[in-house]
Formats: sequence, structure tokens, C-alpha cells
Amino acid sequence: MTCRALATAVGRDIYQRPFIAVGFAAFALIIPLAVTSTTGMIRRLGGRRWQALHRLMYVSCLAAVLHYWWLVKADVRRPVAYGAVIAILLTFRTYWARTHGRRTSRRSLTFKTKSRSPFRSVTVRSGRKPSSSAG
Ligand code: HEM
Repeated sequence: MTCRALATAVGRDIYQRPFIAVGFAAFALIIPLAVTSTTGMIRRLGGRRWQALHRLMYVSCLAAVLHYWWLVKADVRRPVAYGAVIAILLTFRTYWARTHGRRTSRRSLTFKTKSRSPFRSVTVRSGRKPSSSAG
């Protein structure tokens, strides 16, 4: 099979079963998160940008639930259960961002790294200079 024929077959498959495209999107969205989760990359990106990029995880979770829901023919109990778990977690995350987010995002982020790493932890400034009155 030539590359062109393979691409055509994959394209047709995705067109006929769109849940595959959504599954692929869920997977593709977490690739940049994996790539940028090393100590060096976190430091290079800076806390704000790293955090903004990692919000893609929320989109990926929703896409994964949609992917499963879409492929199930009759008994939707499992995808509904997964969707409920994601909904509860996202609700909690929204509540947490409203009550704590502003305060923590103005400060620096500290990530603990594996003990074998030369850096035990890395602190990334959020881009704003911390004010002296910040407690
Ligand atoms: C390249 C990306 C992906 C492709 C091509 C893909 C494709 C598929 C296919 C073909 C099935 C089986 C459908 C059937 O039984 O007829 C499936 C099932 C499933 N996929 Fe994906 N998927 C992808 C990514 C993901 C991701 C990222 C997640 C979740 C994070 C996910 C979650 C699931 C679940 C929960 C099932 C049902 C498994 C079961 O039978 O219980 N998939 N996927």
C-alpha cells in the first residue's frame, strides 16, 4: 500500500467514524503537555505560559469522554460515568480557581522533581514581580 493510499484509507475511516478523529484530538492535545513537562522546558516556558498550555488537558478530557460516548452503541452507562467524574473534577477545579487561583497564579510555581534529578525542585516565576505587600 502506498503512502497516498494509506492516507486516503485513514481519511475515509475518520470521515466514516468521527469518534476516531475526536479520540485522536484527545491524544494529540496531550503531546505538547508531555513534551513541555521536563524541568528545562518548564523553566524555559515560564510558569504562566506553562500553566496556560496545560489547560489543554481540560479540553483533552472532554474530547476523550466524547470519543467514548460517541463510539458506544447502546449501553452508555460507562461513558456517562466517566463524564460524571470529569464534570465533578472540572466543577471542583473551577471552584478552586475562583477561590485560590488568582493568589497562586501571581506567585511562582514550584514543582518537585524526582530525587535523582540534579534539581530537587524548580521554581518558575509567573511573569509579575511579586509585590512587597503580597502575603
Ligand atoms: C489516536 C487516538 C485514538 C484512536 C485512533 C482511538 C480509537 C479507538 C477505537 C477504534 C476504539 C474501539 C472502538 C470499538 O470498540 O469499536 C476506541 C475505544 C476507546 N477509546 Fe480510543 N482512540 C484514541 C484515543 C483515545 C484517548 C486519548 C482516550 C482516552 C483518554 C480513548 C479512550 C477510549 C475508550 C475509553 C474506549 C472504549 C474502550 C472499551 O471498549 O471499553 N481513546 N478508541
